[in-house]
Amino acid sequence: MITVTGLAFTYPDGTRALDGIGFHIMEGGSVGIVGSNGAGKSTLVNHLNGWFKPQEGSVVVNGITSGRTNEEKIRKLVGLVFQNADDQLFTARVWDDVMFGPRNLGMDEQESCEEAGRLLRDFGLWELRDKPPAHLSQGQKHFAALAAVLIMKPSVLVMDEPTADLDPRNRRKLIGLVNRLPVTRVTVSHDLDFIWETCTTVVVMNAGRAVASGPAHELLSDRELLERNGLELPLRLQGA
Ligand SMILES: Nc1ncnc2c1ncn2[C@@H]1O[C@H](COP(=O)(O)OP(=O)(O)OP(=O)(O)O)[C@@H](O)[C@H]1O
Ligand SMILES: [Mg+2]
Repeated sequence: MITVTGLAFTYPDGTRALDGIGFHIMEGGSVGIVGSNGAGKSTLVNHLNGWFKPQEGSVVVNGITSGRTNEEKIRKLVGLVFQNADDQLFTARVWDDVMFGPRNLGMDEQESCEEAGRLLRDFGLWELRDKPPAHLSQGQKHFAALAAVLIMKPSVLVMDEPTADLDPRNRRKLIGLVNRLPVTRVTVSHDLDFIWETCTTVVVMNAGRAVASGPAHELLSDRELLERNGLELPLRLQGA
């Protein structure tokens, strides 16, 4: 479903955030991307839906090569929930943010309204639908951003730090929800217990490169590998 080859990216100030990273994600796969602060995870996932364009190397999603011409096709296929929900929510009401994508693409209004209502109720946001997104709590913003992505029924769901703002009960709810979604998933998280519960494969990043990839439970149990890359064992394995 996704093939990243030799992807490199340098920010305008000269920071080389990606340095030739490559990996494959099979259709229906669930991949966790882990790495310490600044490893390049967000820069990487911002390439998966065409938001960032490859400077070197390539990103191919379902046979479509990311670039200036295929932007819309890739955006339809890949839903990206940003690390910072403020980057994603931009209208005056939560409801309008969730409905923005369907309206923009001319999807059936009635069906989209029903789906928006279902998602907002599921995420505990129904009562808040007329509020400005800026007035939501961080966790509420995250669920609003997720609803705005899921309503588009993407084939690939990419989430960047989905649990950072969630309380334990909502974190548990998200685990159940994503595990039931019949889509290919890419999850960036420092919450290695969340990755343990929701991903079958893991890619470990360090300094803009993929330094290891393989079965999630195997890599997440490898203390030496994790520590070498600035990470720690998931809490469940720390003997707590
Ligand atoms: N807009 C930018 N301009 C210049 N450098 C940037 C910019 N955004 C990120 N960087 C740099 O690129 C590198 C990778 O950043 P990125 O945000 O991809 O890391 P990350 O792995 O997502 O980190 P975190 O776990 O803290 O979210 C870092 O060194 C960062 O300082
Ligand atoms: Mg990040």
